Amino acid sequence: MANVFARRPVVITRGKGALVWDINGKEYVDCTGSYGVALIGHSHPKVVEAIQKQAEKLISCHAGFYNDMRTEFLQKLVSITPKGLNKAFLSNSGAEAVECAIKLARKFSGKPEIIAMMGAFHGKTMGALSATWDKKYREPFQPLVPEFKHVSPDNLKKVREAITDKTAAILVEPIRGEGGVRIPPEGFLQGLREICDEKNVLLIFDEVQTGFGRTGKLFACEHWGVIPDVMCLAKPVAGGLPIGVTIAKENVMSSFKVGDHSTTFSGSPLVCAAACATIEVLLEEKLVERAAALGAYFKGQLENLQSKHKIIREVRGLGLMLGVEFRFDVLNIILKAMDKGVLILDAGRNVLRFLPPLVIEKEQIGKALSVLDSVLGEEENARLLGAPSN
Ligand SMILES: Cc1ncc(COP(=O)(O)O)c(C=O)c1O
Repeated sequence: MANVFARRPVVITRGKGALVWDINGKEYVDCTGSYGVALIGHSHPKVVEAIQKQAEKLISCHAGFYNDMRTEFLQKLVSITPKGLNKAFLSNSGAEAVECAIKLARKFSGKPEIIAMMGAFHGKTMGALSATWDKKYREPFQPLVPEFKHVSPDNLKKVREAITDKTAAILVEPIRGEGGVRIPPEGFLQGLREICDEKNVLLIFDEVQTGFGRTGKLFACEHWGVIPDVMCLAKPVAGGLPIGVTIAKENVMSSFKVGDHSTTFSGSPLVCAAACATIEVLLEEKLVERAAALGAYFKGQLENLQSKHKIIREVRGLGLMLGVEFRFDVLNIILKAMDKGVLILDAGRNVLRFLPPLVIEKEQIGKALSVLDSVLGEEENARLLGAPSN
């Protein structure tokens, strides 16, 4: 496999709920949720059953043909997405969902320019990468797609100044994930909506990481009562199978004509069966409410750790999308926590990110917290002795 992933020295072979096990049978509390994919838990029995049943029946069916399972999924999806977002294109990843949104914005408006935020992450294919901010991802691959610009985030004045008569869309993550779990200030997303309406520019929300209940609402935009014109989804939508969704207002999506966009795997029956089961589980098990309640508990406990460990700079997040910012690189903390049976993500160099399955148990959160407490204690001691462990 290409050497593009920063690999952790562990072989994961099994998962159930919020737990995974390595090849030696060691158990871990998975606060990475496979980068937010395992939202309803690893190998949820309903998803497993749906995949098994559908695999016996029909695995692939090109979107040039109708398929019952695809129709069922699209109906279920539209029943939960914000009002007015009712026409979708299905693909295979978050980056693809964003690519589609970019093309759609250009086609709908007849204009080329996309405004994204500094600090944003939208994926690594050429279009999505052009909207992603971090230089380390972008620079080796210049020239990128033209007519993308970045403005300083959370600043409505800067956004307004950046809009020109060539602007097709503003693309934004409602909460920046890779950028450090950053929640916008009150009024920012509402302000973006107003500016877009006033200037006749599309508003695209990238909810690849925040969507499907992660933040304690089905979609993060619901925290601020803002409905975009286009929304991108991916990670957890098909219970662990690869999927991307670009869902838009009907008049916007209708600007795509036959042949304008496609992918061979668009809406395969197998993936759609898994996605139907995922939506059912999300609603039946009330996981959105669970994310809100457990997220508030988890965040409160992390804040307690902040009072105890001065090396923590800030705790932030919504629902079960949480970030803990430090004054230094967090890789060592991640590796030590892994050793003690807890998997944690980073978000940039100095932020720990928690994206656990929403089915995580309170005791499992307890284990994650006590491991973090002990690792932070060790880290502080090492720093006091003048020998920071990284
Ligand atoms: C907000 C956001 N958009 C897009 C992507 C890209 O998704 P994928 O890795 O599935 O291409 C990610 C991935 O982390 C993401 O967090």
